[in-house]
Amino acid sequence: MLENLKDFVKPGSEEESLVKQLDFSRLPRHVAVIMDGNGRWAKKRKLPRVEGHRAGAKSVRQAVETCAHLGIEYLTLYAFSKENWKRPKKEVATLWRLLEEYLKNEDKVLVKNKFRLKVIGQIEAIPDSTRKELKRVEELTKNNTRLTVVLALNYGGRDEIVDAVKKIATDKNLDIDSLNEEKFSQYLYTIHVPDPDLLIRTSGELRVSNFLLWQIAYAEIWITQEFWPDFRKKHLLQALVDYQKRERRFGDIYPR
Ligand code: FPP
Repeated sequence: MLENLKDFVKPGSEEESLVKQLDFSRLPRHVAVIMDGNGRWAKKRKLPRVEGHRAGAKSVRQAVETCAHLGIEYLTLYAFSKENWKRPKKEVATLWRLLEEYLKNEDKVLVKNKFRLKVIGQIEAIPDSTRKELKRVEELTKNNTRLTVVLALNYGGRDEIVDAVKKIATDKNLDIDSLNEEKFSQYLYTIHVPDPDLLIRTSGELRVSNFLLWQIAYAEIWITQEFWPDFRKKHLLQALVDYQKRERRFGDIYPR
């Protein structure tokens, strides 16, 4: 149970009632999020799309804080997919700039709170200045263990699997007959990161969009109609309460 419940949720609020429904011994270790709907959020308000991304960065802060407060160990955010390069140049440039700003502003917060940053994806193609910031903050936080924030950037799930196969094909120390699921996982970008238990997608779309294809094999999926910039602590708590109502059988049958 949370020690400082009052600092985390307002007494009498919906958030408080959700927290009280949680079984803290059965929280997901890893929550992954497809942040979707920034553009539609902005359009609804007659704002440029980039304003949706700016507002989305605030939701990122809140999701990180909430996971840390609850004791969730890993939070993976799908922040830039391989397909996102198809967007107008200006929007793409703004997305990288926002990320850079986020890293410059939040590095002290990450250090102070013992958060670790890890990036997954084909990072070589990320603009130089953003890539340097990412490397700097990854290095700065690499020994932290409280919450690992995994940013999926220039990420594609199929690419990740192809890249793993390439690494396997050139690994002279690998006895190919010994290859199994567990060993294969060690060639993925997510080495040392457990598979997500819960996958959240905002804005109501019913797709996995090439995200963590291997890793979500047994993840519970929770979809909300909310656009990502409107995603708040309340929604994460709703997802967690719902997750705990599900029976995760992993192909087995219960009760025996
Ligand atoms: C999806 O909305 C969102 C993205 C492609 C980018 C997510 C980026 C951020 C939240 C900004 C900063 C990130 C960090 C990690 C600080 P969409 O543009 O696809 O929305 P739409 O489907 O309504 O067009």
